[in-house]
Amino acid sequence: MAAAISVLDAVGDFSFDEQLLGGASIDATGEALTQETLAACRGADAVLLAAVGGPKWDTTDPNAVRPEQGLLGLRKELGLFANIRPVRPTDALRDASPLRPEILAGTDMIVVRELTGGIYFGAKGRDGDNAYDRCEYSVAEIERIARRGFETARSKVTSVDKANVMETSRLWREVVTRVHAEEYPHIELEHALVDSVAMALVAAPTRFDLILTENLFGDILSDLAAMLTGSLGMLPSASLGGDGPGVFEPVHGTAPDIAGRGIANPLAMFLSCAMMLRLGLDSDELATAVESAVDRALGAGLRTADLGGTATTAEATAAVLSYL
Ligand code: IPM
Ligand code: MG
Repeated sequence: MAAAISVLDAVGDFSFDEQLLGGASIDATGEALTQETLAACRGADAVLLAAVGGPKWDTTDPNAVRPEQGLLGLRKELGLFANIRPVRPTDALRDASPLRPEILAGTDMIVVRELTGGIYFGAKGRDGDNAYDRCEYSVAEIERIARRGFETARSKVTSVDKANVMETSRLWREVVTRVHAEEYPHIELEHALVDSVAMALVAAPTRFDLILTENLFGDILSDLAAMLTGSLGMLPSASLGGDGPGVFEPVHGTAPDIAGRGIANPLAMFLSCAMMLRLGLDSDELATAVESAVDRALGAGLRTADLGGTATTAEATAAVLSYL
């Protein structure tokens, strides 16, 4: 976050209101998302979010407060039903990807994940020896994310579900099919099962232009897709859809295994700043400036540890700032 703020300071004159969320908030207040943080977010033009959580707060106790509740609560409270995760491996990073270059070449996709429904927000609990998580979707919830997907797509939408097993998926497929026929017939639509999409993402990633999917499948597939770029440390995201500000955050987590060593890859944060500039603050020009500075730094050889290099967070930040 500190590195990201230095990048934002370099491109504009923003004022920042820093608030705690997740683990840090639990330590300070006992709650993962306080009313104060929520009110500050509601009052802002955009919310830039760093990752939440870590082993310190990990527990299987159903009654314990968890850092993730802060993030999920914020998404829900701000009505951010659409999570946009672009995946575009850069030329400079072709060697960092676990896929062979000929399979990767031309990969350029966007994952559009439903973010405020499904199993994440259904009733969950324990009942004697049983545990349950209820998955529900309404027609209205599917319609609005489907529209967002078709509007974001350039040529084709792959709608991902598990319609051979799950009732929510069968409703999903019906509603996506209808919204497509009625409102977006010019966009190509294919339906695919989530297990086969997981396979195709590594076997033939160029098949996808836009993946439209529900909350849990989107969580899993977006980490998988992120790795095509060579590192989870590269992927930004935008969460949109409410009346108020959007939330912009990297797809990655807190990487507790490298905490405190100054070697985290800040590029996903920088690229999240770019998405915030473009989609949250309406400045395409500044967004492009940040993205091209990142591209040029990578092109000049910048590699943090996750990309097989030795650059520290501070060095990576200085490299991007120099191109900015
Ligand atoms: C993500 C994360 C979150 C999610 C966690 C931290 C709750 O994995 O943004 O993808 O599952 O949505
Ligand atoms: Mg995730």
